[in-house]
Amino acid sequence: MNYANNILETIGNTPLIKLNKLTSELPCTVLAKYETFNPGNSVKDRMALQMIEDAEKAGDLEPGGTIVEGTSGNTGMGLALAATIKGYRLICVMSDKQSKEKIDILRAMGSEVHVCPTDVAPDDPRSYYSTAKRLASEIPGAWYVNQYDNLSNTKAHFKSTGPEIWEQTDGKVTHFVVGVGTGGTISGVGSYLKSKNPKIKVWGVDPYGSVFKKYHETGVFDENEIYPYVTEGIGEDILPKNVNFEIIDGFTKVTDKDAAVYTQRLAKEEAMFLGNSAGAAIKGVLQLKEHFTKDDVVVVLFHDHGSRYVGKMFNDEWMKKQGFL
Ligand SMILES: Cc1ncc(COP(=O)(O)O)c(C=O)c1O
Repeated sequence: MNYANNILETIGNTPLIKLNKLTSELPCTVLAKYETFNPGNSVKDRMALQMIEDAEKAGDLEPGGTIVEGTSGNTGMGLALAATIKGYRLICVMSDKQSKEKIDILRAMGSEVHVCPTDVAPDDPRSYYSTAKRLASEIPGAWYVNQYDNLSNTKAHFKSTGPEIWEQTDGKVTHFVVGVGTGGTISGVGSYLKSKNPKIKVWGVDPYGSVFKKYHETGVFDENEIYPYVTEGIGEDILPKNVNFEIIDGFTKVTDKDAAVYTQRLAKEEAMFLGNSAGAAIKGVLQLKEHFTKDDVVVVLFHDHGSRYVGKMFNDEWMKKQGFL
């Protein structure tokens, strides 16, 4: 018999899939690391399990304890899978710009969800960062995951996502392009790939309204770069410890409109029903065209599934209201 002992054993080993139509103007091969094949439908299952296992080993999370995290949804889903299997209580704190589907899904998976305002500074007591920290300090036996600064996040991708991409491309990968939020994916995959071949180029995709590109280019944390944007899952108004700027060769900025339009195009032209950061990532790849040559193998990572965006990027009324259609 060939079966997994529980859902957690099915995390990882996702397929790598060639893009054919959207990338036809590029000279190179573009392959998508297709993370929605994870059981929680996103790449975040990998790091959620790693962070919990490391906290168990360190004694930070005791049997029957409470896990508290500020999450835009996907990390919450990964944590929910592990919390259910391992018997922990889970509290997720989210910002109110996240799609309603993400909140409903977390509740369906048995998590308690607190919703906080988006348009307040990170150190404001109402922000989702501050609320998560406060709940973790108030609840006895609670462990605050802190995916931004918890380096087990990067480690998960160094241990699994990076090696999978290296093996699936038979070591032929030349560029890795990915949206950056906590930075765990780009830093873990990027540093693994560079450890195998230092010539591999690693590119981050950054929405307008986020600090990463300017900080990478100038070393200046420019508050003028920070303003509200609609693209979900990527970009930050803080510098998470998981963003290892040294292994990143550059960032490209993508607009909210392009990210949304390309999320729709992935579905319509490649039959890839994916989340909003996938639209941003593929537009980022197209913007980097001049960096690629004929023999290059570009891997772009798609983080999550389209079902979480049916009320937004896959809803033409919403798209029109935003001025995107
Ligand atoms: C949909 C989506 N895309 C991209 C990212 C960014 O990945 P990372 O946090 O590893 O940088 C996230 C992370 O929250 C996400 O949820």
